[in-house]
Amino acid sequence: NKGKYEHYMQKEIHEQPESLTTTMRGRLIRGGLCKSKSVLLGGLKDHLKTIRRSRRIVFIGCGTSYNAALAARPILEELSGIPVTMEIASDLLDRQGHMYREDTAVFVSQSGETADTLQALEYAQENGALCVGITNTVGSAIARNTHCGVHLNAGCEIGVASTKAYTSQIVAMAMLALAIGADTISSQERREAIIEGLFDLPGKVKEVLKLDQEMKDLAKLLIAEQSLLVFGRGYNYATALEGALKVKEVALMHSEGILAGEMKHGPLALVDETLPIVVIATRDACFSKQQSVIQQLHARKGRLIVMCTKGDAASVCVGGSCRVIEVPQVEDCLQPVINIVPLQLLAYHLTVLRGHNVDQPRNLAKSVTTQ
Ligand code: UD1
Ligand code: M6R
Repeated sequence: NKGKYEHYMQKEIHEQPESLTTTMRGRLIRGGLCKSKSVLLGGLKDHLKTIRRSRRIVFIGCGTSYNAALAARPILEELSGIPVTMEIASDLLDRQGHMYREDTAVFVSQSGETADTLQALEYAQENGALCVGITNTVGSAIARNTHCGVHLNAGCEIGVASTKAYTSQIVAMAMLALAIGADTISSQERREAIIEGLFDLPGKVKEVLKLDQEMKDLAKLLIAEQSLLVFGRGYNYATALEGALKVKEVALMHSEGILAGEMKHGPLALVDETLPIVVIATRDACFSKQQSVIQQLHARKGRLIVMCTKGDAASVCVGGSCRVIEVPQVEDCLQPVINIVPLQLLAYHLTVLRGHNVDQPRNLAKSVTTQ
């Protein structure tokens, strides 16, 4: 039931304040007098000690689920103090990459039925790793076959393009990072700030959804383009990859997410006065580096669309020649949850304007159960 919406993708994008709320429900504890804020993940509490003792945490997934894990990687590394590596499920299988008994392997999947992820799970089990699932589907193969895990509780996702599951996955993995790091006194303040940030997040998502019309206007400008680049780094490298994936899979427009630090190692050659480029430059430790990326793209006459923190338009938009998307600021590690929303809206409107099937893009299936 799409209710007042025309498409499931549109409904699911606008549902995110609620889906994020249900992902967090009962899992964040504000604490009473003298008690600190904390996270309670019922499915993990008996396994946290083992996870903390592991030598490595390996994230494994495909498509949007992989991107969500990439968004959560920095905060997991920071709060756990354990090296975190990334695997696209099919690539791990192609290489028969190493997996050890001392590994914690985290399988991220909305459907819980993706063939490559499921096969990578079997492979990790055979190699003795502790297997943790992050899935949206209770009773799915991945939920059943992992040792423990966290259900997203984001509600059923129908649109082939994953939207609300992505933001809930990032939040679930941020909570995973908070739970693993919970016994480290030195990061207590940081963890409490993130927990406060999580409480505020649904409200901030509601705020960023107000950009709907602005994104529709931007889509009108981009309707006939062949290609769109998206530059990001740090916490928002994943936002660049995921924004580009949305544009390519539903709007059927070539789009590429680029790690901004790689700009001079190739992508800069593409820049001219015709190619539209989205640069994500919200406030975090990478902000000044992104300002310099914007200047260099500007010097090559790039057609820039800059996503920045509210109030920063003047400091990111050199010469006033670019378009700006201003978003509310949240705790740095949660910013990817906010920043993806305008790009989801852009992909949605581009698709409708270009006359393509929003909920069932050609050649794609919601859950990829064959290899
Ligand atoms: C659970 C209940 C929830 C109830 C809550 C009350 C279920 C599905 N969840 O939620 O209805 O309100 O207790 O305390 O009954 N798991 C995996 N792999 C996965 C995902 C989960 O093995 O990929 C396991 C978990 O380790 C756990 C169980 O499934 O044993 C349920 O997980 P989850 O729903 O996340 O647990 P709670 O949030 O505690
Ligand atoms: O169900 P899963 O999360 O395992 O699915 C993984 C990918 O197939 C999926 O995210 C795909 O990339 C989406 N269509 C992206 O919107």
